[in-house]
Amino acid sequence: MTLAPETAGDTPAAGLTATLPGAFYTDPETFRREQRHIFESRWFCAVRAADLPRPGAFRTVQVGRESVLVVRNRRGGFGAYLNVCRHRGARLCTEESGEVRRNLQCPYHAWTYDLDGRLVAAPNLQRMPDVDRSERGLLPVGLREWLGYVWVCLADEPPSFEETVTGAVGERLGGVEAIERYGMAGLDLGRRVTYDVRANWKLIVENFMECYHCATIHPELTDMIPEFADGYAAQYYVGHGAAFAEEAEGFTVDGSGGFARIAGIEESQDRRYYAITIRPQVFLNLVPDHVIVHRMFPLAADRTVVECDWLYAPEVVASGADLSRSVELFHRVNTQDFAACERTQPAMDSRAYRAGGVLVPSEHHIAGFHRWVIRLLSEAPDAPEPPGS
Ligand code: FES
Ligand code: FE
Repeated sequence: MTLAPETAGDTPAAGLTATLPGAFYTDPETFRREQRHIFESRWFCAVRAADLPRPGAFRTVQVGRESVLVVRNRRGGFGAYLNVCRHRGARLCTEESGEVRRNLQCPYHAWTYDLDGRLVAAPNLQRMPDVDRSERGLLPVGLREWLGYVWVCLADEPPSFEETVTGAVGERLGGVEAIERYGMAGLDLGRRVTYDVRANWKLIVENFMECYHCATIHPELTDMIPEFADGYAAQYYVGHGAAFAEEAEGFTVDGSGGFARIAGIEESQDRRYYAITIRPQVFLNLVPDHVIVHRMFPLAADRTVVECDWLYAPEVVASGADLSRSVELFHRVNTQDFAACERTQPAMDSRAYRAGGVLVPSEHHIAGFHRWVIRLLSEAPDAPEPPGS
């Protein structure tokens, strides 16, 4: 598999380029605009489909400024709704996850919605002829399934998924087949770790998109993938597939053997590592025997929760095999990366960073990410929102 570098559409800049000014990483108003014009306007990878195995299983996630409820319906599909009761606005589901037997009932006055969001019952509803049930269902949001995850979009008119997600990734990678070959929807969850990172989401994206830091902070990863030690591999595309160290048997913390190659992975992809960013909030790491999926949930200008899933072939998970050496490698990488982001965040407010810092020459793709953020914020008219808008 040969993937083109993820630079199409981004003009490589000659020499050094400035990062965004520090205020971009701390200013609450900028973050609010990002919530509105990026996370609430683009497709957002919300929930792993297999986390909701039965009708009535639900999960709530924060998308921009909204809580979104994703629930498995009775037809095997999903519904995604704003997690707000249409009676007097109580948060419908306060738990992060759970399962209802039949319907979703508001804990305040017991208005009851079915799994398709329809208002089906309310105390004394028959004495309230003015309440039109069909008008008072939960508000749905856009929903798609891809790679075994439920993606949601809160825009009134969601942008094309094919253009802004699969197409945008494919344009940078030379097609999405290279990702789809891993059959992620058919893999099982081996481990999930949730990281509460005290840093702006863009610092986390930028960190993921460069490997200049790899030699300094990732000893285990550079042992595993020697080319990362030279600092020039742009970790976000690694389009050729970065080769494992010769002595490594598998992608594990100590180079010990991993598991059998995932079905569908070609010989040419064996012993190789691919890293891909799906804007705005997903990172994928693909290795022959597992896939690592990071979903970011930006909660404040200086706080981002990252949910990281390690996915394996079902037979590996079912066998009860010891996954610890496999998981530990990237768990250490995550811990090292997020510590670096947290070390950076407080300095974003410093006078020393008022005009930003520097992108070294191989990082023009990070400048492309900055231009993308700025374009989305500047394209969107942002007159003060009147109450009720
Ligand atoms: Fe939900 Fe009243 S606010 S039933
Ligand atoms: Fe890193």
